[in-house]
Amino acid sequence: MSEQRVLLIVGGGIAAYKALELTRLLRKAGVAVRPILTAAGAQFVTPLSLSALAEDRVYSELFSLTDEAEMGHIELSRSADLVVVAPATADLMAKAANGLAGDLASTTLLATDKPVLMAPAMNVRMWEHPATRRNLAVLKADGVAFVGPDEGAMACGEFGFGRMAEPQAIFEAIMARLAGPAPRPQLGPLAGRRAIVTAGPTAEPIDPVRYLTNRSSGKQGYAIAEALAALGCEVTLVSGPTALRAPAGVRRVEVETARQMLAACQAALPADLAVCVAAVADWRPAQEGAVKIKKGTDGPPPIALVENPDILATLSAPGPGRPRLVVGFAAETNDVEAYAQAKLQRKGCDWIVANDVSIEGTMGGDDNAVSIVTGQGVERWDRTAKSEVAARLAARMAQELS
Ligand code: CTP
Repeated sequence: MSEQRVLLIVGGGIAAYKALELTRLLRKAGVAVRPILTAAGAQFVTPLSLSALAEDRVYSELFSLTDEAEMGHIELSRSADLVVVAPATADLMAKAANGLAGDLASTTLLATDKPVLMAPAMNVRMWEHPATRRNLAVLKADGVAFVGPDEGAMACGEFGFGRMAEPQAIFEAIMARLAGPAPRPQLGPLAGRRAIVTAGPTAEPIDPVRYLTNRSSGKQGYAIAEALAALGCEVTLVSGPTALRAPAGVRRVEVETARQMLAACQAALPADLAVCVAAVADWRPAQEGAVKIKKGTDGPPPIALVENPDILATLSAPGPGRPRLVVGFAAETNDVEAYAQAKLQRKGCDWIVANDVSIEGTMGGDDNAVSIVTGQGVERWDRTAKSEVAARLAARMAQELS
């Protein structure tokens, strides 16, 4: 699904050759690598080898018409999830610590709002020099993370700290950062509980290039996953394709089709709580063409549809594995509460959170006006932010499970 991206700045040092192996490891793990090679770096590795391994072009000049036309330095600094400097030479560290911006690498470091990881590499005396110590302290205070340097024999014949960390160690430091912070310690009213939350649309393939989907943004489901996690719950978020980042402390499983979503939910059982927020496509094309359907002379092709499994109804079915509380959503344009009551019966869930999508700005927007329909009656909540709806709902669920 959404590919993670590293902007890799390769500075000038004998360790630059290790940046090639690092690039290979990242690509193998499915991480996109966009390289910036400094002028000094280009003395040690060629743009061609870096570009071939990264499967992207190499950026190197600040005042290059082609570089700026294709992707300006500001865009470069924003186009990544993480900026990695390997090797981070004494010169690059000094520039970054002092906010200098005389070349593409340093300008990018000054312009970025993304986390930065540096793998220093330099002679041991340079590493131990008070100027480098100062720069290191400043960069750490600015939030830059470091991996290495290691102690060992150096290319210059000396021994000590300054050798760049091995590519495998830098790779692991990158992957740990891309995975986000470790889940928070489980404290709160839902500590020890497990929840499954479905979110986003599903995409149902017609052929290798076309699919059926809907306008769900996933915002409400993601906000609920985040709110449950904030109460200490262990959350599996089963998400269709969205543009959203996984909330901190939540395990996200990315799927495309309704059938994949159901399988992922079933794999995440047992759970105390299931919240089905996803806008699952009710139907899918009966046949997924193995090749792209071509325009023929017979007019548009008929697309036969078959029904998708109902995830909410499946999770609500009575049985030993049923979560204690199963909550569904109902997006309606009219007769909201009457339809929600009917849906509660039909799907066999415990609550339906009904929202009126005829209100402009609800689909894809940040606000939601919902009614909570339970076996006991209906509760209407005023229109408020989706994050607020999520927090109130999570608190209600925690109360129900206590
Ligand atoms: N849902 C599901 N799996 C499906 C269809 C829906 O889990 N295949 C869930 C949704 O996540 C939501 C609830 O069921 O929690 C209501 O979905 P909706 O599409 O509104 O219900 P339908 O049964 O399709 O009813 P209608 O089309 O008549 O509105």
